[in-house]
Amino acid sequence: MEQKGFLWWQRGIIYQIYPRSFQDTNGDGIGDLKGIIRKLEYLHWLGIDVIWVSPIYPSPMKDFGYDISNYTDVHPLFGSMADFDELITRAHTLGMKLILDLVPNHTSNEHPWFIESRSGRDNPKRDWYIWKDAQEDGSVPNNWLSVFGGNAWEWDEQTRQYYYHAFLKEQPDLNWRNPEVQQAMYNVMRFWLDKGVDGFRIDVMWHMIKDSQLRDNPLNPDYTDLQADYNRLLPVYSTDQPEVHDIVRQMRTLVDNYGEKVIIGEIYLPIEKLVVYYGVDNLGAHLPFNFQLLTLPWEASKISSAIDAYEAALPINGWPNWVLGNHDQQRIASRVGLAQAKVAAMLLLTLRGTPTIYYGEEIGMKDVPIEEDQIRDPQGLNMPGKHLSRDPERTPMPWDSSTYGGFSKEQPWLPLARDYKRVNVQKQQDDPFSMLTFYRRLIEIRKKEPALSIGSYRPVYSNHQLLSYIREWNNDKFLVILNLTPGVCYFTPAHIDLKGTIIIATHSELEGLPLNGTFGLGGDEGILVKLEE
Ligand code: GLC
Repeated sequence: MEQKGFLWWQRGIIYQIYPRSFQDTNGDGIGDLKGIIRKLEYLHWLGIDVIWVSPIYPSPMKDFGYDISNYTDVHPLFGSMADFDELITRAHTLGMKLILDLVPNHTSNEHPWFIESRSGRDNPKRDWYIWKDAQEDGSVPNNWLSVFGGNAWEWDEQTRQYYYHAFLKEQPDLNWRNPEVQQAMYNVMRFWLDKGVDGFRIDVMWHMIKDSQLRDNPLNPDYTDLQADYNRLLPVYSTDQPEVHDIVRQMRTLVDNYGEKVIIGEIYLPIEKLVVYYGVDNLGAHLPFNFQLLTLPWEASKISSAIDAYEAALPINGWPNWVLGNHDQQRIASRVGLAQAKVAAMLLLTLRGTPTIYYGEEIGMKDVPIEEDQIRDPQGLNMPGKHLSRDPERTPMPWDSSTYGGFSKEQPWLPLARDYKRVNVQKQQDDPFSMLTFYRRLIEIRKKEPALSIGSYRPVYSNHQLLSYIREWNNDKFLVILNLTPGVCYFTPAHIDLKGTIIIATHSELEGLPLNGTFGLGGDEGILVKLEE
């Protein structure tokens, strides 16, 4: 089958590892690089092509690694540079790519750059961060809010200025308008590319440049008390500034010099703004993360319209991508329920574009409730009572039924799910009807049939329950029908003559059945039909 012209990051399946919670090998209750190495064979068995690892660098861990104090080393908690070298070599030997998480918007307040910058107004690195005088009455320079609660300015008594931090006060924002900052971060990228990494997931890409005049953000008329404080304002001047695209383009040019690499941008923006990050002539981010399946209500007609809108908004040759979860969001199995999570998996793995799987999704891992006094996540700690902690979606991966689920020999940093003895990798590997088996089979079919990854997407029909579409490549055609509700519904292929055989289904007893005329789907059922020519 002719598939030329499609690159590894277009055909491949990405798997996100949150390293603290994947596999501990040294008994400190925290996952490590040796743990990832140990599980590479598993990921290979599952059919994963690309691994994205959340930050592994030295960090005071105020935001669990997203506060970096050295961009070019490995945190001893996770291991050593030798472990990293081994990880990348072993991944490559298995034919897998490795992507690192780059956090260019902010450093830790313990990064030497910031320590220098705050040491004096005349320090050469002063302008590497965003320093500003107080207003005449001593108040903060503008009304910007921190994503993690409170205002976004921190007073420095010694040098008598405020600095800006979009996240924690321990995460000062770099000043990306300063060419020295740009060069320093490009050197970081070169360091890891020279080591052979295959690309970067770029943290909060849309935050990187702020309004040059630091104007006040307008009020958000739709804010309600249930939301994070941050949502009181619309971040019109603090995020998504036109100049950010120049930066993204420079990063792209840099990685392009290393061959077939990838830049994935973390961007929470509406579709029309998101697609701008593909850049002029597609020379921006290869994959601006498409988070629609995380943020939309789980309703067939809404999802169907969102897919259409996304497909329509993509620039020519802009490659789509889809995500069901990550370390900042409620897990899909908690959001839509376990039965529906299988339908979601089928959606993720039959849509056009690159799918990213969040560790544990493949076994139907759910959010694990964490007692209020056990919360570790700063977002949860800073805004108590709003259920904003991200700990529940970051709990240890249960590998087997042994103590601590085979994740660690000691008490893990966050608790395992209570049902880990039942819901774990080992149990599901042996079960032909498990979520894991279903994921593996879907991935296998997706890899075998180019129609499912790179083929065209054509919506067929959707209503408040059903979502259906056709994927086609050369003469191979597949029809996907998903029931996004727990109620029975009927699919009637009106106007189109659709005949074929079900090749994989959420409920395996449907497999092998013909589709010929009206078809009834039980609640939470999804089918993939190979259509007759
Ligand atoms: C991104 C990360 C999140 C982190 C934040 C600040 O949104 O995904 O985990 O807290 O950036 O770096």
